[in-house]
Amino acid sequence: MIDFQPILDQIHTNIQQCSDKGRVADYIPELSKVDANKFGISILDSNAQQFSVGDAQERFSIQSVSKVLLLSMAFAKVGDALWKRVDVEPSGDPFNHLSLLEMENGIPRNPLINAGAIVICDVLLSQLKNPKQEFIQYIRDIAGDASIDYDLEVAESEKRTGFRNYAAANLIKSFGNLEHDVEEVLDFYFHSCAIAMSCEQLVKVFYIFMNRGNCLQNNNYLNLSQVKRINAIMLTCGFYDEAGEFAFEVGLPGKSGVGGGIVALLPNHFCVATWSPGLNEKGNSKLGMLALEQLTTETGLSIF
Ligand code: DON
Repeated sequence: MIDFQPILDQIHTNIQQCSDKGRVADYIPELSKVDANKFGISILDSNAQQFSVGDAQERFSIQSVSKVLLLSMAFAKVGDALWKRVDVEPSGDPFNHLSLLEMENGIPRNPLINAGAIVICDVLLSQLKNPKQEFIQYIRDIAGDASIDYDLEVAESEKRTGFRNYAAANLIKSFGNLEHDVEEVLDFYFHSCAIAMSCEQLVKVFYIFMNRGNCLQNNNYLNLSQVKRINAIMLTCGFYDEAGEFAFEVGLPGKSGVGGGIVALLPNHFCVATWSPGLNEKGNSKLGMLALEQLTTETGLSIF
């Protein structure tokens, strides 16, 4: 296996020379307080060796990155029945877009846009007795890290300002694709977005998608077919209307969040997380994408 450390050190040096860091998200007030100069990367390889640089141990709001974890928990519980409620096509639209949802009768394009994750939350509410508690426990178990938790101030901040998510949930409900009350579904959704994790913790959780459904402690969470499907959805839908650009630049399945985190992986090889809070116009971390482009170009390690 390769020694990623010198490559990460070089990327860190290159990134520190970039003056345009993008814009920190401010539509969720709590997120606007984050320092735009933060930058971290962590890699976990298939031999369980971890390499990190910069602020890789600092926790940040993982936001939409959690949509992959909602999906994996729901998919493992209900199997292919999930696809009656949500489609698997890229949207080519921003993550909070509404008109497609109206045109397609309340069936969201995919589970990684906000509307899709809201439907997945509804599915999980039917499956779990204590959804918030069981979801965070699921993530702690995969990571082998009991300290992972919700940031309740971020969850509250989202609830106060999540007007587009309320619009989406009400639209879905009007088409009969939500079983629970909008308020209950969104409470779970906002909490899932408000999980705080570091790059070093994120790669331990996403290790299951790199390692055939098995976590570092060798417990199994997904079968091979489920892992294949989730990675395919990450590749085609993980970056909203920039999924094509991410595949073109980086060439890995992955997922971004408006907290500035990105997680990506090369099946059976490595899992990588980056954090840089400044976003580009599409809502993806500007320097995170640049760092990942350098990583896969420099090493030649991508799915292509
Ligand atoms: O619901 C929202 O708008 C946010 N909690 C999550 C959006 C997000 O992270 C989209 N990612 N790029």
